[in-house]
Amino acid sequence: MTSQNYELLLRRCKLLSAPDRTEIVDIAISAPCTANGTVSRTIAAIASHIDGTAAIELDVQNQLVSPPFVESHIHLDSALTAGEPRWNESGTLFEGIEIWHDRKQTLSLEDVKQRAIATLKQQAAQGVLFVRSHADVSEASLTALVALLEVREDVKDWLTLQVVAFPQDGIYGSPKNQDLMEEALKMGVDVIGGIPHYELTREDGVNSVHQIFKWAEQYDRLIDIHCDEIDDDQSRFLEVVAACAIRHGMGSRVTASHTTAFGSYNNAYAFKLLGFLQRTQLNFIANPLINITLQGRTDTYPKRRGVTRVKELWQQGINVSLGHDCIQDPWYSLGTGNMLDVASMAVHVCQMTGMAEIDACYNMVTWNGAKTLNLEEYGIAVGKPANLIVLDACDRYDAIRRRATVRHVISQGKLLTKTSPAEVTWQE
Ligand code: FE2
Repeated sequence: MTSQNYELLLRRCKLLSAPDRTEIVDIAISAPCTANGTVSRTIAAIASHIDGTAAIELDVQNQLVSPPFVESHIHLDSALTAGEPRWNESGTLFEGIEIWHDRKQTLSLEDVKQRAIATLKQQAAQGVLFVRSHADVSEASLTALVALLEVREDVKDWLTLQVVAFPQDGIYGSPKNQDLMEEALKMGVDVIGGIPHYELTREDGVNSVHQIFKWAEQYDRLIDIHCDEIDDDQSRFLEVVAACAIRHGMGSRVTASHTTAFGSYNNAYAFKLLGFLQRTQLNFIANPLINITLQGRTDTYPKRRGVTRVKELWQQGINVSLGHDCIQDPWYSLGTGNMLDVASMAVHVCQMTGMAEIDACYNMVTWNGAKTLNLEEYGIAVGKPANLIVLDACDRYDAIRRRATVRHVISQGKLLTKTSPAEVTWQE
């Protein structure tokens, strides 16, 4: 029997083959084959030992091999602008919106593209290969959108980017905004966004949700709405999104982002709502790094955490994923693109310190994110596209606790990045 020649062989992997399964195996990645003009490399074999040779062979030494991280909520158009033209001294959402209003007057195609690609490279080097980014479509030039659609194309050989048409100033805040949303849909956005709690009135907010569902059906797109991102316990657009998802039968294609007001609802209302949400199959995204810093700003003490009910949603079997929302911008001046930072903050803020809960927080930046993005063929299995990461960790708990280095990133069968963990040498 002749031994097979592979593109890449990974020996002694502690493979996370499913959210609830780990096994020690070798993984082989096939040589590239071209079909319909696209080059693809797939997982050719997974076994306790694989006979064969490869152009690159890595001994993983029983370290964790995981599907790539999924960043399910970020704003690449504003990333890396913190301090421009001024710092957000109050730390509030609304000062952030004012600063961004000023900064976006000087937005250019090159400016957005350069910052977006720099951010995506930071993320990819830390194991993120799937990203959903919102693009502000409140400006008549649609500069941010055009730039991010070009970036989606520029990075497609190493990272999958979804672009959301996000009406930062509201769909009904200005007469031109509805036309801009339709223009964005025609230009090929993947997802339709919204911001009902920032529309001028409650009625406008409700109408905006109905309009978003109408567009989603008309243009066959996913939905991801910034929903109730406020501490106001009377902000109740989530129930409108849930009702529309039930009536349109679109739950798994719909995401409610932030829903921070859910953390402030009275329990009688919250538990009633949880029952409805179980029927919807809606996806939720929490952004714990920014939620904990942006919300609760008008409170004295006790000061609210301002994060949605992640643990309770997870306990009900509802899909929750996690995102950064922002990296170094007017709303959140910190962040490095490391999804383990995000998962670690969720463990703390959502009080998910049980072992199964810590594993669940890891799953929220991997499998759950893939479900939110409606990704097909995510995960590591024979025949699937060869996307995987090798972590300097022995399990999910270890990865989150130490924010472990991602040593190797393999994207579409190619070794994309290598990173060496920091090394300490004691000096006698
Ligand atoms: Fe956001």
